[in-house]
Amino acid sequence: MNILYNFTLILTGKMNGMARAVAFSQDDDLDAQLLHLKGADLKRALRVLEERDARQRDENQLHDAGRTVELVDKIEVLPDGMMMLHYDSYLAHQRYYDDWKHADIPLLNFGNLRYHCFPSFDNDCLDQNQLVIQQQKSLGKGGLCWDAAFVLAEHLMMTHRQWYPLTYHPNILELGAGTGLSGLALAKFLPCNVTITDLPELLNLMQQNVTQNFGFSVHKEEEKKTEEYQPTHHLVPAFGTAHAKVLRWGVKEDYPPVLENPLDVIIGADIVATIYDAPALMETIYDLAGPSTKIYLSYNGRMEAMFDELLVQVKNRFATVRNIQPFSRNRNPKVFIIELSGKIQ
Ligand SMILES: C[S@@+](CC[C@H](N)C(=O)[O-])C[C@H]1O[C@@H](n2cnc3c(N)ncnc32)[C@H](O)[C@@H]1O
Repeated sequence: MNILYNFTLILTGKMNGMARAVAFSQDDDLDAQLLHLKGADLKRALRVLEERDARQRDENQLHDAGRTVELVDKIEVLPDGMMMLHYDSYLAHQRYYDDWKHADIPLLNFGNLRYHCFPSFDNDCLDQNQLVIQQQKSLGKGGLCWDAAFVLAEHLMMTHRQWYPLTYHPNILELGAGTGLSGLALAKFLPCNVTITDLPELLNLMQQNVTQNFGFSVHKEEEKKTEEYQPTHHLVPAFGTAHAKVLRWGVKEDYPPVLENPLDVIIGADIVATIYDAPALMETIYDLAGPSTKIYLSYNGRMEAMFDELLVQVKNRFATVRNIQPFSRNRNPKVFIIELSGKIQ
């Protein structure tokens, strides 16, 4: 009964999402069609969407070339020549919702996270405790920060009173972390132990982002004395700790020992997508979750067909499934969050 009720909520949420999406783009009837497509037809439709995004990107670049400088992203060039885009600028100039827009900029500065969530304090140390995430386009989708990752991070920070246990530091695991943005944001912001995980090819990037932002909390004293050790972006120690590990969905030897260290929260940003293996993802989440684990997955509403598949996988595994309208400064109208809890044994 409970499950049926919650599925109704999700379907209502999806309909709202679709209705709003239609208002934002003339082409979104294509998104609606995705609901009914499967297999090769779905892949073809997704390719069409990608091509459409690429066209829109080109058109916008041409368009912006003739505009005032206000529309140009504020990009800082660091002493080592690296380009860094500030998230405030990212938001101010987000003229349409294209996750690839910033793919060529290697560093994204999410800013001082405590300040964003609670502007009333910490505003005397804005330059401190920033989260700077390195992107690596050559690694494909996992090498970039997606809107769904910013949305998940901000939502969980802003609503932490609803899920954060006050009496101890929770263990948080991020699946399909890519750059690690969502998990690392939580570890910067809250006292907690975060493990970001992904496929082996993403390990170096994840580790770099951990080192850049949490140098002292993850490195041994001897390493800190070496010449290569150059933590740059953690001027104030983070509130939590962060580690990066390989975890391939469905591969049990990659799983962390949850019997000794039960997971309080499992998160995943933009990993609910047609191109990924939904059964393996759900199996992993189910295996790793305990009776009181909460799971938060952000997804881009464009991938409706995959979402339907996910609902099939969730059935009989979790008692409560909620579709949440996120709290975030990132207003991408297609990003939603699914909350799962109450693992059915
Ligand atoms: C669209 S990216 C999202 C990255 C990041 N969470 C974000 O939102 O910025 C999807 C991620 O899922 C990871 N992924 C896909 N299949 C996986 C699998 N079978 N096991 C582990 N990770 C996987 C990819 O490597 C990639 O990093």
